[in-house]
Amino acid sequence: MDYKQGKYKVRDLKLAAEGRKRIEWAESRMPVMMALREKYSKTKPLKGYKIAGCLHVTKETAVLVETLQVAGAKVSWSGCNPLSTQDDIAAALAKGGTEIYAWHGQNVKEFYWSIDRTLDMKPNLTLDDGADLIFTVHNKYKKLADNIIGGTEETTTGVHRLRAMAADGKLLYPVIAVNDAETKWDFDNVYGTGQSSIDGILRATSVLLAGKNFVVAGYGHCGRGVAMRAAGMGANVIVTEVKPTAALKATLEGHTVMTM
Ligand SMILES: NC(=O)c1ccc[n+]([C@@H]2O[C@H](COP(=O)([O-])OP(=O)(O)OC[C@H]3O[C@@H](n4cnc5c(N)ncnc54)[C@H](O)[C@@H]3O)[C@@H](O)[C@H]2O)c1
Repeated sequence: MDYKQGKYKVRDLKLAAEGRKRIEWAESRMPVMMALREKYSKTKPLKGYKIAGCLHVTKETAVLVETLQVAGAKVSWSGCNPLSTQDDIAAALAKGGTEIYAWHGQNVKEFYWSIDRTLDMKPNLTLDDGADLIFTVHNKYKKLADNIIGGTEETTTGVHRLRAMAADGKLLYPVIAVNDAETKWDFDNVYGTGQSSIDGILRATSVLLAGKNFVVAGYGHCGRGVAMRAAGMGANVIVTEVKPTAALKATLEGHTVMTM
């Protein structure tokens, strides 16, 4: 492990060169983010802001992190899922000067230690995928909320939980529900999660999907995307649903609907 207090804790800084190559590849596939980077490199609208983030540490996130910094922000980062953290990307970010605490396979204690370290800088903004950072502020470091202007939360589940907190009057600062953006729920959830879920299953199991019975629990945005891809690969897709109209949609789109 490579650790420098107040700077980074990552698996191995020697992985940085490989990670940097992959970040550059992601940059070449993210023209909108790169156009924003170019635009805000001049005006630096985030100058003076401190941003703590807890998102998947992947090459795409790295492009976001470095764009925030080019726009003037001071950033500290951790991974929102220890199994999605890519050690070469974490190393490249650390080497490039990003404050980051993330390594693949962290245990629960290490996961929350990393979040705690990102909060040491007393952020003004929090970026979340799963709401762990927001919950840590609310449950452990309430005073930090006085200094936080707002946050973002990416996932469907996180947004549900934060809405419940807001309804109880317990949410200490405003949070933008990224999941409510049409470009998230109608594109990322359907097509992104649809593709990446199938990709994960195939990498983990190497099964031939054609001819398999493939059960999808819930025919919402993600479920619809996964079902569409599995059917395209020849699987016999069975959908379970609790909402009649969603079940009807699944039926009309060619899937079998059953109770779990
Ligand atoms: N890993 C990712 O990339 C990713 C991305 C987006 C969302 N998610 C997660 O995927 C999940 C689904 O998100 P979504 O955006 O598709 O939500 P959604 O609200 O669009 O769909 C959920 C569906 O599940 C159905 N449902 C609820 N309870 C059920 C039950 N007991 N049995 C069967 N069906 C049930 C609902 O009726 C609804 O149609 C959430 O947990 C979300 O956080 C993951």
